[in-house]
Amino acid sequence: MLLLNKFPAWLSAFTLLLLTQEPVSTSEVTACGVAVDPPANIEITDPGFLGYLSIHWTRPASLQNLTGCTVRYQLRYYDTYEERWRSVRTVKLTYAAQFDLEKSVKVRILTVLKCACTNGTEVQGEETEWVYTREPTGVAGSGIRDFHCVFYGKEYMECTWESGPVQPPNSQHYLYYWHKEMDETKECPEYIVLPEGRRGCRFPRESLLEFSNFNLCVNGSSPAGSLRTAYFSVEVQNHVKPAVVSSVHVSETAGGLKLDWSPPSGRVPEHCLEYEVESSTAMENGKEKQERMVFQNLVDTSYGLLRGVDSQKTCFRIRSKVNMYCADGGIWSDWSQTKCTVDKETRYIPAWKYLSLVGLLVIGIGILCLSLWILKKICIKKINKKDALYTLYKEKVNKTMPTILSPIFK
Ligand SMILES: *[C@@H]1O[C@H](CO)[C@@H](O)[C@H](O)[C@H]1NC(C)=O
Ligand SMILES: *[C@@H]1O[C@H](CO)[C@@H](O)[C@H](O)[C@H]1NC(C)=O
Ligand SMILES: *[C@@H]1O[C@H](CO)[C@@H](O)[C@H](O)[C@H]1NC(C)=O
Repeated sequence: MLLLNKFPAWLSAFTLLLLTQEPVSTSEVTACGVAVDPPANIEITDPGFLGYLSIHWTRPASLQNLTGCTVRYQLRYYDTYEERWRSVRTVKLTYAAQFDLEKSVKVRILTVLKCACTNGTEVQGEETEWVYTREPTGVAGSGIRDFHCVFYGKEYMECTWESGPVQPPNSQHYLYYWHKEMDETKECPEYIVLPEGRRGCRFPRESLLEFSNFNLCVNGSSPAGSLRTAYFSVEVQNHVKPAVVSSVHVSETAGGLKLDWSPPSGRVPEHCLEYEVESSTAMENGKEKQERMVFQNLVDTSYGLLRGVDSQKTCFRIRSKVNMYCADGGIWSDWSQTKCTVDKETRYIPAWKYLSLVGLLVIGIGILCLSLWILKKICIKKINKKDALYTLYKEKVNKTMPTILSPIFK
């Protein structure tokens, strides 16, 4: 009853809707001359937190005056989300756990004694089990379906649903949520309204709490009666969908390719992202080769790879997800734009340009040589002419000049 006092009077409608059980039959197990009975006055109360239930009990009467012992309680409860029993041991007289209110609540509890008189060995009492199944209320088949939540870039979360197979006319849906830092449930801050009615809820980042149960329920009303309530519990950090990877850039390096991109916008820390790179390579034989590579924790958002000799053109696209170091789950982002290398055909064009350049050079040199040759020819001709003139001149001089002067003209 300890916890109950903490709740305001209006909550008493929710509390104690489960069960109280009278002390059970005396246990067969004894230690140090006393019966190791299961705990007494077990109560499961619902404070109205959409499945977060409190379990309380008291020390069994038989162990009330026991000294020199440690008394602990082993509580087991069925986790309907994970579909397995969970076990806890505590010296306290209360425990709170998350249950799916649409399913049976199953709890088992026993007393564990460890005393000097048992030489320090543990004695486990008998286990008792409580099962509680809540009778569903509301129009049968009117509970919503396909409920899922996506936490976009850790900036805001959207939870959406489809109406149940039976939808009474003029029905209205309501969503309520709660996490452990809230005193009470709150209604959806912003409904997503489609022509057929409310089909989702948008939560701003401030209304969310990570690494904790985030409980939701969708109920509804209609002139034909209330709709059946659906309960959910999520951990919001496992529903993150990063934004699209942007600025994908492919460049060619000596002997390979290099891929760069920018981390998605949003509030997901860079070290929390993993990337998947999908490459599709067009081969020279006309076939296409597809590959996918996942990178858990890249130091920087770039990746170098070899270029296949027979590859014609390679195209890449990238998507990202929260990695296992930061959450137990996540949703892949949408694919980035596709970016490709330059076509091999196109890549040869510069080579042709080089060839024509060499050709031009050859022709140029040819023209130069030719002009030089022509020039030479002309010069030789002129010299020949000069020689002829000289001979003529000499003859004339020889005739008119005295022989004494002749050496000057030689
Ligand atoms: C425990 O002790 C109290 C008084 O000290 C007594 O009244 C009570 O009967 C005892 N209970 C048991 C189970 O022995
Ligand atoms: C505890 O240990 C002592 C000595 O080792 C032994 O005589 C006694 O029977 C033991 N008691 C129990 C309950 O095991
Ligand atoms: C829906 O659930 C909330 C929270 O439990 C409750 O306050 C509200 O009255 C319910 N509404 C309907 C129509 O059942």
